[in-house]
Order: sequence, then structure tokens, then C-alpha cells
Amino acid sequence: MDLSRSAAWSALVSHKHEIDNMHMRALFQGDGDRFERFSIVWGELLLDYSKNRITSHTLELLLDLARVAGLEKMRGEMFDGQAINFTEHRSVLHTALRRPPGYSLEIDGVDISEEIADVLRQMKSCCEDVISGKWKGYTGRTMTDIVNIGIGGSDLGPCMVTEALRPFAQGGLQVHFVSNIDGTHISETLKKLNPETTLFIIASKTFTTQETLTNAMTARDWFLTHALDELHIAKHFVAVSTNREKVVAFGIDEANMFRFWDWVGGRYSLWSSIGLSIALFLGFDRFQELLNGAYAMDRHFQNEPLEKNIPVLLAVLGIWYNNFFEVSSHAVIPYDQYMHRFPAYLQQLDMESNGKRVNRQGSMVEYATGPVIWGEPGTNSQHAFFQLLHQGPNFIPADFIVPLKTQNPVGEHHDILLANCFAQTEALMKGKDEREVLQELELSGCDPDEVTALLPHKVFPGNRPTNTILVNELNPFTLGSLIAMYEHKVFVQGIIWEVNSFDQWGVELGKQLAKTIFPEIQGGEKVRTHDSSTNALINAYREYRLKGKPQASPQLSFFDEP
Ligand code: F6P
Repeated sequence: MDLSRSAAWSALVSHKHEIDNMHMRALFQGDGDRFERFSIVWGELLLDYSKNRITSHTLELLLDLARVAGLEKMRGEMFDGQAINFTEHRSVLHTALRRPPGYSLEIDGVDISEEIADVLRQMKSCCEDVISGKWKGYTGRTMTDIVNIGIGGSDLGPCMVTEALRPFAQGGLQVHFVSNIDGTHISETLKKLNPETTLFIIASKTFTTQETLTNAMTARDWFLTHALDELHIAKHFVAVSTNREKVVAFGIDEANMFRFWDWVGGRYSLWSSIGLSIALFLGFDRFQELLNGAYAMDRHFQNEPLEKNIPVLLAVLGIWYNNFFEVSSHAVIPYDQYMHRFPAYLQQLDMESNGKRVNRQGSMVEYATGPVIWGEPGTNSQHAFFQLLHQGPNFIPADFIVPLKTQNPVGEHHDILLANCFAQTEALMKGKDEREVLQELELSGCDPDEVTALLPHKVFPGNRPTNTILVNELNPFTLGSLIAMYEHKVFVQGIIWEVNSFDQWGVELGKQLAKTIFPEIQGGEKVRTHDSSTNALINAYREYRLKGKPQASPQLSFFDEP
């Protein structure tokens, strides 16, 4: 049965009407223990979810919904390796990648724990060789630069982690990420590099992704214009993939291939050998700490009762706003410049996982799934889009992520940063009502006409929900926990929405059409086979390519002749 027709869902619909007129300001005033009631301390992490439009009863109802959706059973199935990615007939076992050795889990008759341990050993040995300088390039020099060529899950996770953990880098290697097919990305990266001291990691689960393979070929050509001999490729190109045949066909030595498995989804793959760039940048031990942090969160997610379970609480709060207040976006604001790629990483994790409109039975869902995830670090975001968060007609829930320790204690910067962060969540919750604005304007000496004119513009409605996630320090362990926390949040929401969070068919159509259009762009004939808009756009570019410059009045030549 569609969950939106369940009693648990109806109870939430009714409860939403009760909550609608409650202001969080009043909830805080009426309950001195609200923070204690709605916060969790777990290890180095504190989740404060007291600034949400909830009461204890709201949470009871939301957790009822999670139970009715079969969350606990499905959670077990994921950890046990059942093929819950049913459209691709695959298990979902990124959690196995961070599990300490000493267990056994068979998938298709193979003990995956041994395979995982083997690959970790291979990664460790590569890190030791490259960092120690034992790994030499074609002229006998040691490596100074690592270039990860990948896209989506084969880029966003490792790129985000290496940026977030820059202060923990060991071994002195520079790491670069090339993802975009736009030639600018690889060209600007190559300009900074010396082929004698550069190691390329070609990271692609499928090893068929057009962007990655095109960038990899360009890197290979660039390398060979300097190194001249294909035999030198072995010292400068390694691959991370599930596809041995394609890796070998590309010309990479099998010995330089780091494998992973189809039970690791692309956006869940930074824990696998896709994390090689992370391990090379931080050193293997710190990569292991990242895994340990994620494992600690896995244990929490598996074992804590739902009422005290951080990913579960974050998930049901998201459901509360998404489905019962019809809010369709969610902001993520790290108050840490090192986390500047975190929102971009979360966009793929969340939106590629749950941006689905068909449930597990293949029927259209009758409710919203997968909000738009977006964000930027504070305080920059305050000077960009916080106007909308404070005074836009609709509220947008937000997560504020805040390391208490700064890695760069310069003057009063960190105190000012954190003062801003706490001020924002307070302002979003409390707002400023008419009475307060009136008082302020009168005190400032405004004349009565101006007071009347300005009053509505200066009111802040407040009652805008935020979660604050404090960590003592952003380090490999706590970052691992944070990432796993969001992975499990996304999982829980997918279960409640009854979608398959582990496939991504929605990215296929554009890829297919690009394959049709690519030869048309290069062909001799004017293109007439698409709709008039697409024809005109393709032909504009064809003409530009043919003539080497845009037409004086290009729009005239865009239209198909009748
Ligand atoms: O964008 C679609 C997608 O399949 C992602 O899920 C994946 O992370 C990315 O492309 C890259 O895929 P691959 O690692 O196979 O190159």
C-alpha cells in the first residue's frame, strides 16, 4: 500500500494542522529543557535539533511512519548484503568497506571481507611506495602530483574529502581533480604539472564514462608527447574500476588496477579504492581513520533505538518538511571553509539517490521525494542567499555544520565565524516580530510615516527550522562519521519514500541523446531530425564550427527551411 494512505501518514497530516500555528519561540519559552530534549551527544559530535517545528509527539508520529515503512527490517537487509538495489539486482555494501577485518560476508559465494582486505593492502602498499619516493617516474624522479580523473561519485567524494582534510595531508603530494569534459578543466590542470613527476588515477566504476575516458585519453596524449614511449605509461597511470577488460583495453597495466565491486554504488564509493587519491594525499593511516569514523556511525545507525538515532532523526525531520509542509529544498551550510565542496558532494548523494518518482512496486508516488540540496559555506552564504532564508515567503530547512576547533587560529576569526553561525540559527528560529521592529524604528527616531512604510519590510517571521551539527574538530574520523551520517539519512528517507535509492536511471537519457548529437555536430549535413529548438541549437554550433566564428545575425539561419 502507498504509505501516504497509511494511518501513520494521516496522523501526521492532522498533527501538521496542530503545529502550523505554533512558533518555535513560544516552544522554547515554554520549555526550559527543550535543548536537552531535542539534542544528542555522540562521541565528538553534537546534534542540536531543538530548533525544529516539532514537539515530542511529532517525533513519535514520524518514527511510527518510519517503523510502518519497515525501516528496521530494511536496514538489516542492507547490512546483510541482500540485493536491495533490485533494479540492478545488486547488494548495497559500502558499509562493508569500512568494517574492521575479522568478519565474513558471502556475496555470490565469495567472502567479500577477504577481497576488501586485499584491495586495502594494495592501496596501502601503493601509498607507501609513492609517498616514500620508492615509486619512480620514467626519468627516475619521485611523484609530486596526483591527478584523479573521474566524475560523479568517482570525483565528488574524494575531492570533497581531500579539501576538507587539507590540514591533515601527509607526504607532500599535491592532489588535483579533473572531472568536467570541458577541455578547460584538463588543460588548466595540465599546465601546472610536470609529466615526469605526475601520477594519474583514472577513476571510473564502469570505465565507460565518456567524460572520464576522454579526459584520460587527453592526459595520456599529453604524457606521451613528453615521455614518448608507451612503456612509461605503467609508471604514471593507474586505474580504479570494476571493469578489468576495459582498463586493460585502455592500455593500463593490470598490475596497476585497483578493483572494487558492483555492490558499491558510485556515490557511495569513496570508501573503496575510489578513495586512492584520499589515501595518497593523507597517508593510508588517515584514510583508515576516515573508514573508522564511518564504521562508528554505522554501528550507531544499526544499534541505537530510532529515538536516539542521529541519521534517523535527520531523515524524519526532512520528511516532516518535505512531505507535510511541502518544502522542496534543503540547505547545507558548513561553517568551515575547508568543507566548501561538502554541499556539492551531498547533492549527488541525496539527489541521485532519492530523486525518483516511482516506488518499489513501479507505481508513481503521490508525494514529494528528494528535495533540492544546496549550500555554501558560512559566512559567505550569509551575504548571498540568507535574505531568502530569513524573509522569503516559504521556509527552507537548513543544516549548519560547525567544527569547534579551527585549523587556522588567526586573531579573532574563529570566534567571529562561530558567533555568526549561532546568530543565524537563533535569528531564523526567533525572527523579529512587528512589536520589536516598531520599537526599534521608533527608538531610531523614524517619523511615523516612515515607520509605517518600513515596518513590513523589517519583520522577520522566524519559525524557520535548522539542525546544528557540532564536531569538536573536523578530522578524518569525524568527517568519516559525518559522511556516513548523511548516507544513512538518505537511506532512511528512501525507505520511507519507498524508492530505490541505489540506482540512477535518470542520468541515462541525456547520455544517450548526446551520443546521437555528437556525430551530428561533426557531420556535413544540416540537422533536421530533432524538435525545432534542438535543431536550431545544434545547427548554430555546426555553423560556428564550419565558419570558425558566429554569424553576424545568427538567429536568421537557425530556423529550418519550410
Ligand atoms: O552520473 C551518473 C553516474 O553513473 C554516477 O552515478 C557515477 O558516480 C558517475 O556517473 C561516474 O560513473 P563511473 O564511476 O562509472 O565513471
